[in-house]
Amino acid sequence: MTHASNPFDALMDITARPQTVFVRGEGAYLWDDSGKRYLDFMQGWAVNCLGHSPAVVADALAAQAKLLLTPSPAFYNGPSLKLAKALVENSCFDQVFFANSGAEANEGAIKLARKYGTLHKNGAFEIITFEGGFHGRTLATMSASGKKAFEPLFEPKVSGFRKARLNDLNSVKQLITDNTVAVMLEPIQGEAGVWPATDQFLNELRALTKEHGLLLIVDEIQTGMGRTGKLFHYEHAGIEPDIMTLGKGIGGGVPLAALLATEKAACFEHGDQGGTFNGNPLMCAAGLAVLDEVSKPAFLKASVETGLFLESELQKLSARHGLGDVRGRGLLLALDLKLPIGAAIVAQAFEAGLLLNSPQPDALRFMPALNVTREEIAQMIDGLDAILTKASAARRVA
Ligand SMILES: Cc1ncc(COP(=O)(O)O)c(C=O)c1O
Repeated sequence: MTHASNPFDALMDITARPQTVFVRGEGAYLWDDSGKRYLDFMQGWAVNCLGHSPAVVADALAAQAKLLLTPSPAFYNGPSLKLAKALVENSCFDQVFFANSGAEANEGAIKLARKYGTLHKNGAFEIITFEGGFHGRTLATMSASGKKAFEPLFEPKVSGFRKARLNDLNSVKQLITDNTVAVMLEPIQGEAGVWPATDQFLNELRALTKEHGLLLIVDEIQTGMGRTGKLFHYEHAGIEPDIMTLGKGIGGGVPLAALLATEKAACFEHGDQGGTFNGNPLMCAAGLAVLDEVSKPAFLKASVETGLFLESELQKLSARHGLGDVRGRGLLLALDLKLPIGAAIVAQAFEAGLLLNSPQPDALRFMPALNVTREEIAQMIDGLDAILTKASAARRVA
């Protein structure tokens, strides 16, 4: 047995992390154990839709913690019934299964589609997913993902996923066989660098899947819960998918995810799906507090305006520094850097007390809290402006 030589050694080293310990968060800010403050435009990777430790979530958790933590998934509890009802009332779906992570919700969606294939499509089991897509880190969701870096990992893959190209309907059509049961996509590919499916493509996909009797599964783990200016992204396209997964924002910072399905698609039978913590009242109480805020028309309207402001400020910044396009929707945006300098910018921003994310070497992704203020956006733009000015001066000298 080895002895930990520093406080980080006892945790598995699964990703590169700065050796900084975060101790407190409030709204748009995080503090580390030295008292340094950071302006956060990652927010737990699009998780804290109401900012860090919002009072409504903290209060809901505290109140629920005193009442009931978990009665067991063998029994009903109030918060999960209420949250399921609220999600159904606010969407085109009829039933909900709660999960603890996005990957688990997607795993459930894959199982549900296969069950549907068994019951209604002569055992069809293949799901068409997309190059560049990201659906999680379980074996099946890694196999469903179209992330290049996943390709050599953990062989053999779970079979039954065929990859089409985003916004290319023909590439989908060519993959449809008698074995196909569903098409699954992120309306905006987040991890790939914020690449949106067009509304037209989503419409065409809905028509195509209907024509072939296939299920349409939208992975709204990143785009859902108001992130792109509607409660759910599919609303922008005016379509009604058969299955949707939610994660990240739904818990406002706590581990909660959900699998939603229409009556036709919700075909699990007893024994098919479950889990010890699924739908536990503590997390569902947080989910209710979040949904209550985010579903308010005034909240969504304000976040749309803030998103447009962030977009125009990024466009101005891009023009000043000769960078590329700003893409995305609402408060899920990316700036094309045109050069593979994302990681260097993120590191310098960290030093300067600004938390940014670079999902691809040549892009920065912005996913602040949905209630981020214009002042906080202006502060982030100033910080990034200074870093880009320094970076281009260094390039000129080199
Ligand atoms: C679109 C999408 N699907 C699934 C996941 C996986 O969610 P989790 O990390 O909660 O398992 C993510 C996480 O980044 C995601 O962005």
